[in-house]
Amino acid sequence: MARITLDPKRSLGTIDKNIYGHFSEHLGRCVYQGMYVGPESQIPNVNGMRTDVVEALKKAGVPVLRWPGGCFADEYHWQDGIGPKETRRRMVNSNWGGVVEDNSFGTHEFMELCRQIGCEPYVCGNVGSGTVQEMSEWVEYLNGVGDSTMARRRAENGHPDPFHVKYFGVGNESWGCGGQMRPEYYADEYRRYACFLRQYGDDKLFKIACGPGTEDTAWTKVLMERCGKLMDGLSLHYYTICNNWQHKGSATEFSTEEYYRTLSRALYMDQMIRRHENVMNVYDPEKRVGLVVDEWGTWFDVEPGTNPGFLYQQNTMRDALVASVTLDIFNGHCDRVVMANLAQIVNVLQSLVLTDGARMLLTPTFFVFCLYRAHQGARQVECQVESQKGGTGDWQVPLVSASASEKEGVYTLTLSNLSMDAPADVTVSLPGVSEASGRILSAEAHAYNSFDLSPVGIRDMEPLAVCDGEVRVTLPPCAVAAVTLK
Ligand code: AHR
Repeated sequence: MARITLDPKRSLGTIDKNIYGHFSEHLGRCVYQGMYVGPESQIPNVNGMRTDVVEALKKAGVPVLRWPGGCFADEYHWQDGIGPKETRRRMVNSNWGGVVEDNSFGTHEFMELCRQIGCEPYVCGNVGSGTVQEMSEWVEYLNGVGDSTMARRRAENGHPDPFHVKYFGVGNESWGCGGQMRPEYYADEYRRYACFLRQYGDDKLFKIACGPGTEDTAWTKVLMERCGKLMDGLSLHYYTICNNWQHKGSATEFSTEEYYRTLSRALYMDQMIRRHENVMNVYDPEKRVGLVVDEWGTWFDVEPGTNPGFLYQQNTMRDALVASVTLDIFNGHCDRVVMANLAQIVNVLQSLVLTDGARMLLTPTFFVFCLYRAHQGARQVECQVESQKGGTGDWQVPLVSASASEKEGVYTLTLSNLSMDAPADVTVSLPGVSEASGRILSAEAHAYNSFDLSPVGIRDMEPLAVCDGEVRVTLPPCAVAAVTLK
C-alpha cells in the first residue's frame, strides 16, 4: 500500500517542456537509416526524412533535439556538411565504428528534420578539434541576417531565412572524448569560444557549457566559479549501467537482481542532480543557470551480432521504468533542470524507435514519453510519495515513484510500480478531486516489442474510484500510468 499526496499550493514552478528532449548523434544507425534515408530511398520519406519515424516522434511530443553529438561533435566540421552532396567531404567517424561519414546529413538536413518533427534544434559545437572562428561562423551561418558572407552562403544553399537556433553547446564531454581537458583549461576555452557566439537579430543564444559526467563536483565548481556568469546552461551526463562499463549486461536477458540494480542506479540521478545543484546554488542562488542533462538513459551491451561501435540495444519494460523514474526526478528538480535529452532517439542506446530497413517499432520508452506529455510546460505540483521499499539484497528501491503537474485546472499524476512481481495499491489524495481517469503501460519486466510482435503498448485503465478527495489506483507489477485528475 502506498500513499501519494498532492499539494496544489506548493510548486517549484513550470516544468520546462525541454525536459522531455532527445539526442541524436552521427552514431551507428541513429541519423542514417534511422531518421534520414535520403530523397531517393524506397522507404517513404519527405525530403529524405523517413515518414514513419517522423510521425512517431511527433506523437511522442519531442520538444528539442540535440545534434550532431556526443563525441562526434568534437570531430565534426560543419562546413563539410553543406553545399552539393556530391562534393561534401568524406570523413572517418573515429569514435563510432570507424565508418565513413559522407556528410550527406548536415546543417540544412538537421534543420529540416526539426521542422518536420516540430521541435527546437540544439546544436553542439566543436571545441576539441575546431576553432573559435569555425564555431563563430556556424552561428553566423545559422542565424545571421543581412548580407554577410555566411548568411549569403546559407541563402545560396537554399535557405535565405535564418534558422533561428536558440540552444548552442560549447563542446561535449571536454573532460573526455572532447579533448581530455582539465576544468581550468576548459573554463578558459569556454570564455573565449562563448565570447564570439554572437546574437543575430532577436536570436539570443542560450549557451550551454560542458558540465560533469560523474558525481565529483570539482569540474562544476571550477566552471561555475570562472564562467558561471557567461553561461545559460551547464550540462550533466549520467548513464544507467546495470553491471560495469566493461560488461554492461544484456538489454533483454537479466536476473531479478540486475533488474533492481538497474532501477537503483537510475534513481541515483537524483543524487547526481542534488550534488551538482548544491555547487551551482553557491555561485548562482537565483538559479539563472539551468542544469541541462543532455545525455541520460540505459547503456547495455549491443545486441548480439551487431557492430559494437553502433550501440544498438533492445528496450524492455525495465527501460520504461528507468525512463519514468528519471522523468519524475527531473520534474522534481524543475527549478534547476531546464532541459534533458535521452540518449539516443532512434537505434542507439535507450531509443524511442528502432528500425530495420523499412520496418519500425515503438519501444516501451516511447510510450512513457507519450504518457508524460501533459507535464510539458505545466505547473509542477508537489507530490509526496510514501511507499515501502522492495528489491533484492543491496538493491532496495522505493516501489512507487510519482510526479505531478497542473494545467488549466487539470492535474496529471504519473506514477510507476517498480515491483517486478507484486501489484501496488495506491491512495492518491488531492483536495476537491471529483473525477479521475488513467492510461497505463504494463507488461512483464522482460517484455519488449519486436519487428514482428508488439505486445507492449498503452491501454485505458479501468474506471478509478473517487471518494472524499481520494482516488484508489491499483497498478499491476512493472507499470507506468498517467492519471488525469479534475
Ligand atoms: O551517447 C553516446 C556517447 O556517450 C556520446 O557520444 C558521449 O558524449 C557519451 O560518452
